[in-house]
Amino acid sequence: MRILYSIVIVGVVLAVSGFAFIHSGIYNVTAMEEHSPLGKWALHTTMKNSVEARVSELDVPSNLASEEMIRQGARAYDQLCVACHLKPGLEDTLLRQGLNPTPPSLVERGHFGPAEQFWVIKNGIKMTGMPAWGVTHDDEDLWEITAFLQRLPSLSEAEYTRLIQPEPGTQAGADDGHDHDHGDMGGMMASGSSHGSTHGEPGHHDMSKPHDARHNDATDHHSSHEPEKASEPEADDHYADGHSH
Ligand code: HEC
Repeated sequence: MRILYSIVIVGVVLAVSGFAFIHSGIYNVTAMEEHSPLGKWALHTTMKNSVEARVSELDVPSNLASEEMIRQGARAYDQLCVACHLKPGLEDTLLRQGLNPTPPSLVERGHFGPAEQFWVIKNGIKMTGMPAWGVTHDDEDLWEITAFLQRLPSLSEAEYTRLIQPEPGTQAGADDGHDHDHGDMGGMMASGSSHGSTHGEPGHHDMSKPHDARHNDATDHHSSHEPEKASEPEADDHYADGHSH
């Protein structure tokens, strides 16, 4: 009886402290701080085991090596995924640098096979920034992207570029070959392209242009900003949005 009583007391104390913790605001949700090593391990292991527990009944198509599948998948990947998962010759992006956890580079072969990758692409991963593409795309589209991911680690920059070109005779442009608009992720692509530029420390916007509106960031200590930015009406001017302090 005594033991039962103690268990109930401990349970109540734990529940009340948990509730107090949630309500207090003590936990800092900032994405600027790393998780503790234990927290990282717990989240990553939960994610990995959760995915692996759900793929056993997936039928992986036998045609993942088909050039047509890979080509279709490449165009979709280029539009939807590069800003977070990179491509050959691109070392970082504005979007990727601020995400926690950092999206893995899919240019490097990872721990997941095609079934796990398909599951993640379709279902997304809660609280990480990895979207559930199954909300907007059917399985066929997602297997094409999965097919492309098997090829991606072996591609050079030139081969990647060739693969995302529209085939001669189609007017698909840079489209992924499907009849819907994905929205423009291009705005997140700017930082870290290694196209012939001298690569500095991570976080430095090593862009083709020496100064632009992005450098009005509060963390940037170049105090003298020439009013030249008005004279750069080019594609990446819209980064100025949200940095106008
Ligand atoms: C806004 C950023 C973002 C976009 C866009 C995005 N992802 Fe992710 N993705 C993530 C993050 C973050 C993770 C890591 C989650 C984790 O480790 O728990 C991830 C994980 C993955 C993984 C698992 C990788 C591994 O080895 O653990 C795959 C596969 C993947 N994404 C594919 C894609 C594909 C394909 C697209 C485009 C159709 C895409 N992602 C678009 C953020 C993104």
